[in-house]
Amino acid sequence: MVLSKTASQSDVSVHSTFASRYVRHSLPRYKMSENSIPKEAAYQIINDELMLDGNPRLNLASFVTTWMEPECDKLVMTAINKNYVDMDEYPVTTELQNRCVNMIAHLFNAPLGDDETAVGVGTVGSSEAIMLAGLAFKRKWQNKMKELGKPHDKPNIVTGANVQVCWEKFARYFEVELKEVKLTEGYYVMDPDKAVEMVDENTICVAAILGSTLNGEFEDVKRLNDLLVEKNKQTGWDTPIHVDAASGGFIAPFLYPELEWDFRLPLVKSINVSGHKYGLVYAGIGWAVWRTKEDLPDELIFHINYLGSDQPTFTLNFSKGSSQIIAQYYQLIRLGHEGYRNIMENCQENAMVLKQGLEKTGRFTIVSKDHGVPLVAFSLKDNSRHNEFEISEMLRRFGWIVPAYTMPPDAQHITVLRVVIREDFSRTLAERLVLDIEKIMHELDAIPSKVTEKLATDEKHAVVVKKTALEVQREITDAWKKMVADKKKTKGVC
Ligand SMILES: Cc1ncc(COP(=O)(O)O)c(C=O)c1O
Repeated sequence: MVLSKTASQSDVSVHSTFASRYVRHSLPRYKMSENSIPKEAAYQIINDELMLDGNPRLNLASFVTTWMEPECDKLVMTAINKNYVDMDEYPVTTELQNRCVNMIAHLFNAPLGDDETAVGVGTVGSSEAIMLAGLAFKRKWQNKMKELGKPHDKPNIVTGANVQVCWEKFARYFEVELKEVKLTEGYYVMDPDKAVEMVDENTICVAAILGSTLNGEFEDVKRLNDLLVEKNKQTGWDTPIHVDAASGGFIAPFLYPELEWDFRLPLVKSINVSGHKYGLVYAGIGWAVWRTKEDLPDELIFHINYLGSDQPTFTLNFSKGSSQIIAQYYQLIRLGHEGYRNIMENCQENAMVLKQGLEKTGRFTIVSKDHGVPLVAFSLKDNSRHNEFEISEMLRRFGWIVPAYTMPPDAQHITVLRVVIREDFSRTLAERLVLDIEKIMHELDAIPSKVTEKLATDEKHAVVVKKTALEVQREITDAWKKMVADKKKTKGVC
């Protein structure tokens, strides 16, 4: 959704140089024109304007897949006109979704008997999957509290302050308080001990992240489970765990099969994963999987019959495309465990090449971990003259899109740059990126610091007070944040 801004007078029409071969007049930008234009002109106008978008392959800000094999692209195009919700009309597509749910549930070690099918659903992404999982927890908790004759109007979820924005959306849209465990400098994920301390009788679940968005680090779900088992025993509660494995769900099973983070842990009742991240499908697919059918309250499932036979659905929206589900099935059967393992190992190795290259410059502190999502998050060792936002901005000149952002509370004075390593980011590109960053550092060394200049001007008339290194660093970060906000450059982290 775009919140509308009024266009300036000079901004009300769309012009196109080449399309003037077909069209002589400008098109209104925000109103539908009265007349039609030839299809070639429409294509050209749009295609020309889209050239100004960044190159998705160089978009290192995103976990989302930007390359698939041509055979998979072909399947996507073939299914582009199929509405997934027409399950009776497209029963094979529904069957492929069910196969994907089962494969993913097995990958996450769901306790399924030989003749049992998994409980799960394909979604638009992890955000929708998290809304559904959150609703299931909320409803289960409400039902239990009603049975006990206790108040059920103040549900909460315990998470780390590093949660992705979709959890904040869930909390606000569905009226659940988010109790966030604060981060500290050098520790950028949820501390399970602190999380369990925050759990109370109104906690509908603790949400752990397998692959923090900010630095790729896996949270310690095993410790969380063990501590919570103990607390549940002492209190008589049965607080469950949800694992947000948006990125890590397709990494841990292949790179760290021994790591216990999934349904092997008894309190893990549901897991979400983004098919469009390391599931290796283009944007538009996620998965929510429940441990058993008892973990998904029946009253949340709708039954529709006007498209043919009775179809149970648990989704937020109704219509959606089928292509991504088909593409997910393609990747799962095409790659198998062997293929996914190869790709994830390769990504991890390329992350190491980038990490070592950055370390060699001597200018950066690495804030990501070697075990986790293949990404490199790094901060400047010394940002008193120039800042990570400036590097991010200068990298754009070379075509690279690398976001810079500040950490959440209480580590908001730390700024990081983050490079996500996807399948299509080769070792050559990693080496090239290091060279370009080195070039930028040399350039920055040669120019005066905008930040210190600005601070100096601001302080000209102020009383001079001696500041700690931390205060200076915070001020610099704030000055940069303001500069970036002033320029209205939103660098979203997805
Ligand atoms: C940990 C985590 N959870 C949820 C999401 C939202 O995922 P999606 O974009 O699939 O809705 C993201 C996105 O990056 C994420 O990193």
